[in-house]
Amino acid sequence: MRSRRFFFIFLLLANLLSGQKAWVGAEYTATKTAEGERGMVVAPHPLASAIGAEVLRQGGNAMDAAVAVQLAIAVVYPRAGNVGGGGLLVIRTQNGETDALDYREKAPLAAFRDMYLDSIGNVVPRLSQEGHLAAGVPGTVAGLIEAHRKYGRLPFKALIDPAIELARKGFSISEGEAARLNSFQEAFRRNNTLPNPFIKPLKWKAGDRLVQKELAAVLLRIRSRGEAGFYEGKTADLIVKEMQRGNGIITHEDLKNYRPQWRKPVAGQYKGYRVISMPPPSSGGIALLQMLKMVAPYDMAQYGIHSKEAVHLMAEAERRAYADRAEYLGDTDFYRVPTDSLLAAGYLQQRMADFNKMQASHSKALSAGKFKLNKESFETEHTSVVDAEGNAVSVTTTLNSNYGCKVVVAGAGFFLNNEMDDFSVKPGVPNQFGLVGNEANAIHPGKRMLSSMTPTIVEKDGELFMVLGAPGGSTIITAVFQVLLNVVAFNLDLESAVNAGRFHHQWLPDHILVEEGALSPEVRKGLEDMGHSLQSVKYMAVVKAIQRLPGGRLIGVGDPRNPDDDAEAE
Ligand code: GLY
Repeated sequence: MRSRRFFFIFLLLANLLSGQKAWVGAEYTATKTAEGERGMVVAPHPLASAIGAEVLRQGGNAMDAAVAVQLAIAVVYPRAGNVGGGGLLVIRTQNGETDALDYREKAPLAAFRDMYLDSIGNVVPRLSQEGHLAAGVPGTVAGLIEAHRKYGRLPFKALIDPAIELARKGFSISEGEAARLNSFQEAFRRNNTLPNPFIKPLKWKAGDRLVQKELAAVLLRIRSRGEAGFYEGKTADLIVKEMQRGNGIITHEDLKNYRPQWRKPVAGQYKGYRVISMPPPSSGGIALLQMLKMVAPYDMAQYGIHSKEAVHLMAEAERRAYADRAEYLGDTDFYRVPTDSLLAAGYLQQRMADFNKMQASHSKALSAGKFKLNKESFETEHTSVVDAEGNAVSVTTTLNSNYGCKVVVAGAGFFLNNEMDDFSVKPGVPNQFGLVGNEANAIHPGKRMLSSMTPTIVEKDGELFMVLGAPGGSTIITAVFQVLLNVVAFNLDLESAVNAGRFHHQWLPDHILVEEGALSPEVRKGLEDMGHSLQSVKYMAVVKAIQRLPGGRLIGVGDPRNPDDDAEAE
């Protein structure tokens, strides 16, 4: 592993000396843990994090690096990186100011509440998950340009050039990417009538070169025309033509009207830590803060990580937060989300009033919490970045499923999202993640679908402490919750905290998902004796985290659950 790493660095240097861009043609291998002082990038692909670190080296700030990484993963990580999807971003500047950018996809103007139901009101299987009708209006391009406009330092062109180069010249795909592309060939063929770079007559194998000339042309149009290079002109024409080929409903008007939205992050205290995260249309920030506040009165360290007591307490907090999610959370531009009430100390205390230390609750008997409404107002990807000045960016981006709705825009070479499945397509009917919803997350034209993405930044004593987030659908929120607690409550170092086995309860279905090997047989039995039902899964969510140690040293950790996760120190 170490010698491959040196080989990679040697190639980078050789390419640099020969005047080429460092990343083009380079072999790569992932580094899971890195240490540095001047900056850190943790991203889902080594080529992307190398680009992010290079941007920092060239004097770019954390936002520049985050934007360059997002553009690079649109090329090298096609299962989730994207220009055809959306994302959510939280920034904390060196001065401690915080901001959140919502560039989540929107329901097209022709969308309507029951669009995925048949004539007798049943959900048409997979209609919101695969094919043209599953796509929401993409937000990524507008979001990245807006994020850069407000917080970037280097010219946008410098940030998009590496992605253009990678798309034009191609890169060697990893074993994992080859296997994934092979496993989706049938779905790609089912949903695409015209050729695209992802469909191949022979099997993909590790080391094959993925060249994306049409995507390079899209990126070039964005480089020269900004948002108009995507939402108008040739790219927009190609998207609309693709929609017409497959009964999709995204129009020129949808594309031209798309705007990202700056929002105020949600923030709250867990013991000595201030946790800053994404507000709606994500459920992530609110649910994370609810869970942290519900477990805060208990001495977690005394229970011990993965003890029966700790898992029971955390799973019960998770159950209650997800029940509230299903009832109260949706796009605040369309629905009055009672954020303050959901995060009020008294409410959360009352929410845990029926917590029994010895016995599991039953989700059927435990609905969303009640309060007086007042007038207040499985694929995704994450990147965490800190720069030398202490600016931090936490950004999660998504096509929803692997390769989104599996439709590639012909002539433009990128996948469209299947984010419409994140709406509640019918009250009480679970989506692909088993999540249920209601009125708050019903489909409406122009509305954003509820997300679980949880880009998060944590402060301690007014200083930057941690940056983290993850892909993983509904399991994102509980993964961020657990990795954070592993560090601040169970005192693990960051690498052990990310690597530690995880578990997940989301109210419905009423069981705890447990990663293989995460809990001992005794703890599993103890939980079952309390009335919990346990289900094993191979793994859940893929956390990318950075911790700032006292004195300023940065530790970056990529998750071993994704072989391509990579941490690069600057
Ligand atoms: N598409 C996954 C999420 O936003 O939660």
